[in-house]
Formats: sequence, C-alpha cells, structure tokens
Amino acid sequence: MQYLVLVPDTLNQAGLAALRSVTAFEVHAPGKMTREQTLARIPEAHALIVRSDTKVDAALLEHADQLRVVVRAGVGVDNIDLEMCTARGIVVMNTPEANTISTAEHTIALMFALARHIPQADRSLREGRWERSKFVGTQLTGKTLGIIGYGRIGHAVAERAKALGMTVLPYDPFTPERLARRLAMLTDPDQVFAQADVLSLHALVTDETREIINRETIARMKDGVLIVNTARGALIHNADLAEALRSGKVAGAALDVYDPEPPAPDHPLLGLPNVVHTPHLAASTHEAQSQVGVEAAEAVRKALLEGRYDNVRNREVLGMG
Ligand code: MLT
Repeated sequence: MQYLVLVPDTLNQAGLAALRSVTAFEVHAPGKMTREQTLARIPEAHALIVRSDTKVDAALLEHADQLRVVVRAGVGVDNIDLEMCTARGIVVMNTPEANTISTAEHTIALMFALARHIPQADRSLREGRWERSKFVGTQLTGKTLGIIGYGRIGHAVAERAKALGMTVLPYDPFTPERLARRLAMLTDPDQVFAQADVLSLHALVTDETREIINRETIARMKDGVLIVNTARGALIHNADLAEALRSGKVAGAALDVYDPEPPAPDHPLLGLPNVVHTPHLAASTHEAQSQVGVEAAEAVRKALLEGRYDNVRNREVLGMG
C-alpha cells in the first residue's frame, strides 16, 4: 500500500530525505503550504507532519478521512486539537528530545543578552553612539534562577545555569509534592517568585499555568527581576507584564514566544526598551531541526508500517489513557 505523507510546514532536508527513502511513502512537502493548499490535500493524507504554523483544528480534521497519524515536529502540541484527533482515531505524537539543547542554549543566550543589554548596546553603537556607562550590566554568577516547568528543557537550563555559578530553584506545576521534595524542587511557585533574580519559563500551557505571570504573581517577585520566556506566550499576561516593565518592577524581559504569534504591531510587549525579542527561534538550529525532522520521519514510518507509536500525546486513542 502507498501512504501519502503531507508536510504543510517547512521540514529540514534530513527529515524529508528520511521520508523519501521509504518506498511505501508518497511525500508531499512543497515547503510552507497555505491553509487552502493543506485543506485541498488533507482528504488523501495518511500522515501529517507539522511544526507550529499549521493549525490542526476541527475544520481541517473534518476533511481528514484517511488520516492515521499527526506528528508534531517539535514539542508543543497546542496547535493540534487533541480531542478531535482522539475522536477520529488519529494518533498524535511529538519529538520531545530533539529540541532540548538548542532551546536551553537560547534561554541562556537570552539571559546574557538581558543581563548585559547586548541588543541595546549593539543598536546604540550601530547608530553612532559610544555609551559605556548607559549599559552597565549584571553578573549572572551568584544570582538565583527560578525555573517554572522542570521537564527536559528546564533541566537542561538548570545544568547550564549551575555551571555558571547560579543557584537554581526549580518548580514544576505537574510534579506531585512528594516527588518534588525528593528531587529537591520547590513545591510552591511563590517560593520561586520571592527568591528569583531571573525567572525562566519552561512549562506547558494548561488551565493551571495560563498567564501564570500576571499582576498578582509579579507583585510577589523581587524588584528588578528579569524574566525569560522560551516556552509559550500564553504563560504571560501581556498587559500586566508590560505595565511591570514600564514601572521597573520587572527590570527586563527576553521573549522568544508570543500570544498570538506572530504578535500584532500593537502587542503590549512590543517596543519596550527593556525587552529583548526573538521570533520563536529557540529550537531553530541546524542540529535541532535536523534531529526533529529525522525523528518525525521515523515516527511516521514506525506508526504506518509497524504499528508502533512513541511519544503519543493522546494516549486514550490507543486505549492507554
Ligand atoms: C516546540 O514546541 O517544539 C518549539 O516551540 C519549537 C517550534 O515550535 O517549532
């Protein structure tokens, strides 16, 4: 049997080569596909590989008559309607390992960019100024890093921060209290908010964590805290953080992710002088994207040809809920 593998987002060449090497696969991967193009091909697709751009929502899934698997080439499955996939018997998987190191490195890079005002100083010099006293920074060594969300990426950030001489305070909203104590994690986010000089977000967005950074939680933080977000924009209440950045309560923020993406020109966090921006780049390295592509291709091969499924995000669909 021939299977159509539809790839409506851009996937690394290594991943495409792995898909094309499977003779049972017809691969349709013309580069970034429009919504209309994706809707036109979805009825014939047996597998769909997406990154974060394609919204695998009810309107798309209702035309997915042959679809058996959706693979998210990356970690976050917030662009996929898991419930609807489950209702239609479609298995959703992701590639959770491949991005870890790149995302952790980007987080550390943003921390340094914030602490040493690197983007602002770069801009100033390009504009012909020599402003040494304006950009006096802060050392990271000796500072306390609060980590909200202590999964793979949170751990990788913690390891690197410890190597820099930072004290790390991890908190994870999904780790049961007894286990958290055993792992020397904090069990109350307020303990992290109260002590962190730098706060880094690595949690999934759920009802518990949505807008966890808001006026009330910011009020419990140290004056002059720095906030880094390489997880998801929806962890932050945009207007509340913007207000805290304007007042100086939060000295600076480094944001790789936004809600929504891309941010509209009037997004409250755009244009503030103490914010460092990158456009959802944390996982965008050659190494991570190549690994993500190869793992996504392998997930489709194993699922369609061998009936084996790893990293399933809707386990109920396999009767494993
Ligand atoms: C992820 O969830 O894998 C990252 O945010 C990167 C991406 O969206 O491609």
